[in-house]
Amino acid sequence: MTDNNLGEKIYEGKAKILYRTDDPNVLLAYFKDDATAFNAQKKGQIEHKGEMNCAIATYLFQYLASQGMPTHFIAQTAPDWMQVVAVKILPLEVVVRNIAAGSLCQRTGLDLGTELRSPLVEFYYKNDRLGDPLFTEDHIELLELATPEQVQQLKQMALLIDRHLRSFFEQCRLILVDFKLEFGLDASGQLLLSDEISPDTCRLWDRDVADPKARILDKDRFRQDLGNVSAAYHEVMARIQTVVSQNSRDR
Ligand code: TMP
Ligand code: ASP
Repeated sequence: MTDNNLGEKIYEGKAKILYRTDDPNVLLAYFKDDATAFNAQKKGQIEHKGEMNCAIATYLFQYLASQGMPTHFIAQTAPDWMQVVAVKILPLEVVVRNIAAGSLCQRTGLDLGTELRSPLVEFYYKNDRLGDPLFTEDHIELLELATPEQVQQLKQMALLIDRHLRSFFEQCRLILVDFKLEFGLDASGQLLLSDEISPDTCRLWDRDVADPKARILDKDRFRQDLGNVSAAYHEVMARIQTVVSQNSRDR
């Protein structure tokens, strides 16, 4: 199944399980079909989600690495297994928004679909007990979750990732509405893009569909009980695969 021997389970999250390997700098991530929303108040399964998200995250990490972005990705070792660099995850969710949706609409009153003049970066404190609250940079400093220099670096990296992902998804005829990133520090203290990028962690709308519900190709289909959840993830994966193979032929 994998090149590394599967060691102790060190972390089980809502969508992935992390295992040690015989190399202390390498972990194995198993992508689950489980889906949760609203801080796990809603639970379910999305057929083949583990394999689809592992494949999508692999393509996107490889694309970002080719653009010079440091990531924790090493290899996809099986359809739902990824080898990654062992990092110390910062307890922050970094959200980038290009179009108003979700909690931004609830917090600000902006209409769904409002194009933002420039991308908005937000930080949320990863803490299930508190419900992952929105944090200012001063809150981050107060709790010493990251240094002020790291916060500036996180913002810069998040905005660069947004630029790269928007142009990639544009080729897929997908609109990148918003997304959530996580970062970790490797053994040498370098910040690496970590976790995953997938329809679980992004809002993606079909550029060619106007209907506000029919255009949704991400986890909002699960959150809002819109149906065809697995088919939407599959559509995203298929479009990415097509663009990746077109781009590799063109090179
Ligand atoms: P929000 O509008 O609910 O704050 O979500 C913003 C983006 O972050 C959206 O693309 C979904 C993603 N997200 C996660 O990946 N995990 C989460 O726990 C939440 C709340 C949002
Ligand atoms: N993944 C999150 C949870 O279950 C929330 C979400 O993605 O909506 O808590």
